[in-house]
Amino acid sequence: MAPAGSLARCVDAFNRAMGPHPTHAARAPGRVNLIGDHTDYTGGLVLPMAIDRDCFAVGRASASGLVRVCSADVNQTAQWDAAEDPVAARDRLRAGKQKWATYVLGVLAIDRARFGGAAEELASRGLDIAIASDVPMGSGLSSSASLEMSVLTLVLSMAGAHARPLDKALACQEAEHTFAGVPCGIMDMLTSAAGVRGHALLIDCMSNQVLPAPLPPVERARVVVINSNAGHELSGGEYARRRAGCERAAMLLGIASLRQAQEDPVGQRRLPDELRPLVRHVVSENHRVVSAFDALQRGRESFLQLERFGRLMSESHDSLRDDYKVSCPELDTLVELLGAIPGVLGARMTGGGFGGSVVALAAPEAMERIAAEVPGRYRDIHGRACSILTPLATDGAGSVTLV
Ligand code: GLA
Repeated sequence: MAPAGSLARCVDAFNRAMGPHPTHAARAPGRVNLIGDHTDYTGGLVLPMAIDRDCFAVGRASASGLVRVCSADVNQTAQWDAAEDPVAARDRLRAGKQKWATYVLGVLAIDRARFGGAAEELASRGLDIAIASDVPMGSGLSSSASLEMSVLTLVLSMAGAHARPLDKALACQEAEHTFAGVPCGIMDMLTSAAGVRGHALLIDCMSNQVLPAPLPPVERARVVVINSNAGHELSGGEYARRRAGCERAAMLLGIASLRQAQEDPVGQRRLPDELRPLVRHVVSENHRVVSAFDALQRGRESFLQLERFGRLMSESHDSLRDDYKVSCPELDTLVELLGAIPGVLGARMTGGGFGGSVVALAAPEAMERIAAEVPGRYRDIHGRACSILTPLATDGAGSVTLV
């Protein structure tokens, strides 16, 4: 579970900025993707897990006609008129360096449009909200998706409305596309909404079907995440360029999405040189996810299967680095350092790339050496600190009882 202190931090920030007390609370987890990156937006397969680091949101209805939002993390309050055009409000918030608040604005705007009714009424009368997050920002662990999901879960519960995890995820994805300008896939939001304790989730991003797979007990292997603390900005254009490249390749191959692409060198020869490696990554990564899911399911009985899972992770990193070109020197260093430690079964970059985190699967005996060796060597090479997390898989977003 997330440290109990963060909900208290959130309530405290609310009370100080808006006056006591919030009436509702919700939480939504970040995620780490074990394998299957840059496949979700082409209808492919991913295998993430929700992590025990949450964003909390607390709120209270008001009759002020204003939406007021306070962040305990950046210690700022933002506000806009509930009747203001959301696009104008977004531009004003961005200009005022309050980008974090645009995520809240985006979710409320989409929530009103998609869920209507009580959500609409609530948002138009006025709302006071505070947020506090344990998901490290810019780390590739979906701090923005968990923020969006926590706010959406909060306002739906305030409105007494129910929505399926998939509908919540689609709403947050739309908010991210429209208000944050990132043409992301569904993985981050759906994992935050539909996480299952002790399980990774196989998500088929074509049908949006979610299939939980049990993770090995921590006495056998642990998921280790290392944040490189290197820059990570998905709206920087590289992400959108990769996505556009995949769409162009699908069009040239005469298929609706790369999910239908085959390992067919003859067909792919028709593609321009720069698109071929993109297709090679997506097709091979989808295969690796299928194998990794199989290995995970058998991994409860056989350590060999966990080793197989680890090898697939390492192959995935090579493909993201060499074919998809979304890694960076800091992530490559962490993967190499981890790979040299006995008991590390596999390591790879995770999420969008260009910075952020790596994820590894490690036997318990590797943990001591990871902590003792990796941060120092990493600092020697890149002159910056990295931070190690050992997350557990947790349940998806939900309401929290305020005491
Ligand atoms: C980011 C996006 C996801 C996904 C990953 C790469 O996290 O938000 O939708 O595309 O990058 O797998």
